[in-house]
Amino acid sequence: MTHANAPPAYVRGPAAPFLNSLSVDRPLARYDIAGSVAHAEMLGRAGLLTPDETTALVHGLRTVAREVADGTFPWRDDLEDVHTNVEVRLTEIVGPVGGKLQTARSRNDQVAVDERLYLRATVRDLGERLRALEVALLARAEAELTTPIPGYTHLQRAQPVTVGHTLLAHFWRFDRDLDRLLATASRADVCPLGAGALAGTTLPTDPAWVAGRLGFSRPFDNSMDAVSDRDPLAELLFDLALLAVHASAFGEEIVLHATKEFGFLERTPALGSGSSLMPQKRNPDVAELVRGKAGRAVGDLVALLTALKGLPLAYDRDLQEDKAPVLDAVATATAVLDALVTLVPSLRYDHARLAAAAADPELGATELADRLVAVGVPFRAAHEAVGAAYRDADGVPTPDAILQRLPGAPPAARAALAGGFPSGGRSTHGGPGTAALAAQLDRARARLAERRTSLSSLDRTVGLVEELVHGEPE
Ligand code: ARG
Repeated sequence: MTHANAPPAYVRGPAAPFLNSLSVDRPLARYDIAGSVAHAEMLGRAGLLTPDETTALVHGLRTVAREVADGTFPWRDDLEDVHTNVEVRLTEIVGPVGGKLQTARSRNDQVAVDERLYLRATVRDLGERLRALEVALLARAEAELTTPIPGYTHLQRAQPVTVGHTLLAHFWRFDRDLDRLLATASRADVCPLGAGALAGTTLPTDPAWVAGRLGFSRPFDNSMDAVSDRDPLAELLFDLALLAVHASAFGEEIVLHATKEFGFLERTPALGSGSSLMPQKRNPDVAELVRGKAGRAVGDLVALLTALKGLPLAYDRDLQEDKAPVLDAVATATAVLDALVTLVPSLRYDHARLAAAAADPELGATELADRLVAVGVPFRAAHEAVGAAYRDADGVPTPDAILQRLPGAPPAARAALAGGFPSGGRSTHGGPGTAALAAQLDRARARLAERRTSLSSLDRTVGLVEELVHGEPE
């Protein structure tokens, strides 16, 4: 394909196809344009562009943005990356003044700012999805707040809990994921623009102004650090890897609970699909795939950390390898969250199966020991007596079977053991007892309200990109 405009010399050469990053950096176009609008405005304020030149560049950039948005932008593979594509197209639109856009700027500080703007918007989008998942978990937890279910350790029945308590456990995991994403965005709130290739510029630029214009709290501290710092992306990838790990554990629980062996969850169509061979099959594919995606997210984190390891200051071309894992992990996390947001409301519990499982006498053993402790029996003695009685009994051991192993037990022990089974009275803080669960639900609701506030304050700075790219609303 030939073009009226030959590629600039810096992207010509025999290695061009290998160096090309357009397939991965195209999604950065709108952030690139937003950064360029702010940069052009700064150049105008600094007297490095005339007012007419500034206006021409800003309008030209907005035309480019419209072309990108409506799909008419003439992407050119021979221009290596998104930055050069935008600049060359701008020059076609506005003429030679387009050649002034890159004054006092390098693609090195440019790509760094693009990525931070992208990260901020991504945290907002993923954050909204996480919040939607939290809302779904909370609603399901509330509906099944006191539904009994065995709690497991080592995947062996341990103590009685409730479905609501279990779903809220997942809620808090995902809430920490959201917290981490927000913290990552707040540490990334530093603008690298003005760092140039690595050593700033001899021209009178204003990095603090441009930082403010792009919605960052402050400009970079050190130009060499600014062009090479990929900490925000590494953090984002860790956040997403852990989120995917949390999702995979939740997926595994759903898969297990939907087996005939557990039978806690009904195998509804929303859970997955059938088998092309076995007519009776209803597979929990959605939960399985959620479980399986974690491998990719962890791989993406490892890919970036490995690319960063041992890089000499300042910019190195290896840094171009940051985009593929980030985009992949973001797409993966987005898909996983969307799947879970749909799946959670469809979870149907088999209450009869759950009640039968939760009535397993073994689940009451700790409680019997606790009741003995409450009347003065040392815990270790109670543990041994109850354990031995359980081993000999078929079901719940009788008070006699336990007491005969506790010759020194106080008289109150007999009454304590006769209290019925299991009472489920675990009312300690954060536990599955009814009052404690109600308090936990209140905390979860309050947390959701806080998250809404944090996400909407992010909306303001995310919206700045829109404003820069399309112009201030009239
Ligand atoms: N595609 C490059 C990247 O993603 C842009 C910066 C190129 N800088 C350079 N000096 N070749 O890192």
